Amino acid sequence: MKLPNIQTLALVGAQYGDEGKGKLVDYYADWADFIARCTGGANAGHTISINGRTYVFHLIPSGILHDKLNVIGNGVALDPRIISEELEILARSGIDCARRLRIAQNAKLVLPQHLVLDRVRESAMGQGKIGTTGRGIGPVYEDHYRRIGLVVNDLLNLDLFVVKLERNLKEATRVLSLYNPELVKEVLHHPHLENGRFYAKKNLFDRDAIIAEYRRYTTILGEMIEDTDSLLRAAVGKKRILLEGSQGNLLSIDHGTYPFVTVCDCTIDGLVKGAGLDRRDVDRVLGIAKAFYITRVGRGPFPTEIGGDRAATWCGRNDVNKEMEQTEAEACGATLESVDPLLQNIAIRRAGKEYGSTTGRPRRIGWFDLPILRYSRKLTGKHIALTKLDVLNECSRIKICTEYQYGGLIRYRIGKKSIEPGDILYEAVIASEVMNCCTPCYREFPGWKRDICDIRSWKKLPQELKNIVLFIEKAADVTVTLLSVGPDREQTIIRDD
Ligand code: IMP
Repeated sequence: MKLPNIQTLALVGAQYGDEGKGKLVDYYADWADFIARCTGGANAGHTISINGRTYVFHLIPSGILHDKLNVIGNGVALDPRIISEELEILARSGIDCARRLRIAQNAKLVLPQHLVLDRVRESAMGQGKIGTTGRGIGPVYEDHYRRIGLVVNDLLNLDLFVVKLERNLKEATRVLSLYNPELVKEVLHHPHLENGRFYAKKNLFDRDAIIAEYRRYTTILGEMIEDTDSLLRAAVGKKRILLEGSQGNLLSIDHGTYPFVTVCDCTIDGLVKGAGLDRRDVDRVLGIAKAFYITRVGRGPFPTEIGGDRAATWCGRNDVNKEMEQTEAEACGATLESVDPLLQNIAIRRAGKEYGSTTGRPRRIGWFDLPILRYSRKLTGKHIALTKLDVLNECSRIKICTEYQYGGLIRYRIGKKSIEPGDILYEAVIASEVMNCCTPCYREFPGWKRDICDIRSWKKLPQELKNIVLFIEKAADVTVTLLSVGPDREQTIIRDD
């Protein structure tokens, strides 16, 4: 693996998440000594195959199958129920995580009330909902900033845990009293909340049941809890560190399409903070971008969505339909060549297996978007990896969005500048109000119409595909250093022209 002069490498999503970071973590894991996952929580998901069986993991770092030190950093919202289940699966497969995994003592602790708050609020928001994954990530971070949250280290001091839990429960119960009690009760009986085990008729939450459950987690996780900030800081410059981002720049709470974002800063800034490091400790940031289509899960602006509002409604309506993959497979003769954009959208989703690994929701599908890549470049830098290139093997026309036209009815003021109706935007203006009114302008390219999965060098890639990559590089001032042409580790091309 060619990574001269690089000791710390960070992989960051350059779009709306799900860019294929998991595969690249696996690809670089051989090179690394430490693999650290530092933001997000069980809202993310990646697929791991063990002894021929496939599992979707949410919290365990993607590098766990490698005999390296895997770290869950301080920026992660850790749900002990989920990680305990994942550890059990790994233990059954003979993988000793006690040796391989360290969990930050200051990672944020997810409690049952966080899941309840997340789900109740989303259900009550109607049309205004964000489309969260329901894993409690938002409420955990809210509690953190309100200074009433718990951290993983609290599992090690049970008396203190109980005091903090009680204070937190009191606040959660007060907030939940504002909502329909039937809805709250129903949510408390969700399978992710042990089918009502934490429900108590009188106080809403059964405090003792929560304490008993979290005491069990202390036994499972206790020996892995450590000051990982110091561990990673001491390793900078001496060991090879791979930082694994979660979600993508456009979902960042600070730099994304607010309010349709997650609650972490998913950019390189959030990633290094969640590792206890400094931006200057990172030698190379690699922005990961899906190509030449992109995806988004949940609500929020998505100018290049293929099929526009019709497609958004289709995915929205099927938000909770876990059988969506099956439904779409049987539904229609959708192909990559379908003239109806909704059918083409469905065909790309099926070809790319774009169904949320955490929720099973259909991911929304759009064409590659240069205005957001230009925006992302400012956050991530110029090194880009393009993933999932093989998905459009059979597509004869590929559309690349080169700029947006702002179609808002009135002038939008932004700082000292303003955007007038009809203006052309080369770089995305990330305000949701603006993005929602943008119409993409496209340039069409001929597809390559052949299988590229077995190609291992840039030179051998079809000229049609290389032309699009070269166009993107020039148009967004980026350097594409890696291309992924299939899900396997070997199906990776390092650019060497
Ligand atoms: P939350 O992170 O569950 O609060 O969800 C907030 C928004 O971020 C929703 O639109 C989710 O669909 C989106 N989101 C959260 N995690 C991921 C991810 O791993 N991939 C893609 N979208 C995500």
